[in-house]
Amino acid sequence: MRTASSSIVVTRQIPEPGLELLRAAGEVWISADDRALSAEELRVAIAGADAVVTMLHDRVDTAFLEAAGPQLRCVANVAVGYDNIDVDAATRHGVVVTNTPGVLTDATADLAMALILAVTRRLGEGERLLRGRDPWSWNMFFMLGTSLAGKTLGIVGPGQIGRATAERAHAFGMDTMFAGRADGEAGLKRLLQTADVVSLHCPLTPATRHLINAERLAQMRPSAYLVNTARGPIVDEPALVHALQDGAIAGAALDVFEHEPEVHPGLLELENVVLAPHLGSATIETRTAMATLAAGNVVAVLSGDPPLTPITIRRQANC
Ligand code: GLV
Ligand code: GLV
Repeated sequence: MRTASSSIVVTRQIPEPGLELLRAAGEVWISADDRALSAEELRVAIAGADAVVTMLHDRVDTAFLEAAGPQLRCVANVAVGYDNIDVDAATRHGVVVTNTPGVLTDATADLAMALILAVTRRLGEGERLLRGRDPWSWNMFFMLGTSLAGKTLGIVGPGQIGRATAERAHAFGMDTMFAGRADGEAGLKRLLQTADVVSLHCPLTPATRHLINAERLAQMRPSAYLVNTARGPIVDEPALVHALQDGAIAGAALDVFEHEPEVHPGLLELENVVLAPHLGSATIETRTAMATLAAGNVVAVLSGDPPLTPITIRRQANC
């Protein structure tokens, strides 16, 4: 039953095409602040909402669900990852949770490939050298990196983004191998011991929190690189800093951080680390598609139709 009086809360500005869809479905309230709302501000904003469009920094837990009230029908996360949402609690409250899979696969795989290239060819270091106005000159041994052709990319998390990253790696002449939950500890260990580049593409769950810890970093080759475009807490960041300082691995390229938006100070000091501020899905096209998919989910649920991309029935899909 879609009524003009449905109340839809959007916790932070999203691209206009998404808002247009929402405005046609109800009364839309958008936070005027261009920042993550505090838990308290969120609870005030969502009171009485029929649907809430959330960002990956909004925590959706029992307190959130209770603050919204029993009329809440849908939480539409504008992200593929939904570690910020207690899906079981939402289900108990009769709330449909949706995410935005598919539309950000290519953008995120592109960024993973960009980070693989940047860290193996020392692009960050080279750029810092030039911007530092240090004298330099070409020579046969200057700032040598590592070639990708013939090397092995190990993909942890064989979901859509992991597979799309593998396709790109094949175009660069790389071999690929995968490890997912079904491959168990032995599969992950084999990947870590074999891969020249390890790229993380699994969701953050209790099972993947600190999946890459000191022990697993020690299983990697000293010449190997770690790339993370998934979620920061999958990596034990202090352990990673130690591994990089000790030369246990050759380098790392990170788009996500354990305590985002903070970055471990040790990472900032290392030349063999490439850092990006969570840009995986950050293209105009992709963010617009994410906003319209999230809005489409809200419209469907408020109309009494099945959501386009519900989490509840697909939650075991990746990794
Ligand atoms: C971004 O990190 C996402 O999960 O979509
Ligand atoms: C490198 O700059 C080359 O011309 O080989």
